Amino acid sequence: MSEPVIERVLFTTQQVEERIAEVAAEISAKYSGRELKLIAVLKGSVFFLTALARELTVPVKIDFLAISSFANQRGAPGMVRIAKDLDDSIEGEDVILVEDIVDTGFTTRYLLQHLAAREPNSLAICTLLDRTPRRIVQVPIDYRCFEIPDRFVVGFGLDYRQLYRNLKYIAVLNLEAPASSSR
Ligand code: IMP
Ligand code: MG
Repeated sequence: MSEPVIERVLFTTQQVEERIAEVAAEISAKYSGRELKLIAVLKGSVFFLTALARELTVPVKIDFLAISSFANQRGAPGMVRIAKDLDDSIEGEDVILVEDIVDTGFTTRYLLQHLAAREPNSLAICTLLDRTPRRIVQVPIDYRCFEIPDRFVVGFGLDYRQLYRNLKYIAVLNLEAPASSSR
């Protein structure tokens, strides 16, 4: 099987950083005078969470959970389970679920239900990327940095087989490209 190749840069490091700063300013204004709890799912959203947190001007706490997604018996996506739960209670807190990408929406919807059951004071969603063409279940997205086309992307936390998370930009990965050289 050939290795996928980076086809093109979708958003440069500067574009990503500037847009995150804009969204952080919006969030800081909205939550002015309050304390925020940012929650992200390991591992993809960690890069975005830390970048966002550094730009926020309100007091911020962070917490993480881990999930595993798997196909159901007919091979359709949408089954998610908690592999590592939050460390602390979120009861009465102002929570933002920080996502790397909302794609079909199954993961986000599951997480929203999981978090809402813990009775936070408020619960919002902030995603780095929003790929609406593939949405199957609707989720209320409060803050989004970028909308993207229906292509597989990597970088800024997003992976292909656990690689490329550390790219400082967001790129389209061509999963069908023939190998340019044999190994
Ligand atoms: P959803 O449940 O279909 O919305 O899937 C969301 C999860 O799928 C994300 O948190 C990512 O881990 C993964 N994912 C979806 N699209 C991409 C992509 O283009 N690149 C890397 N990971 C992706
Ligand atoms: Mg992933």
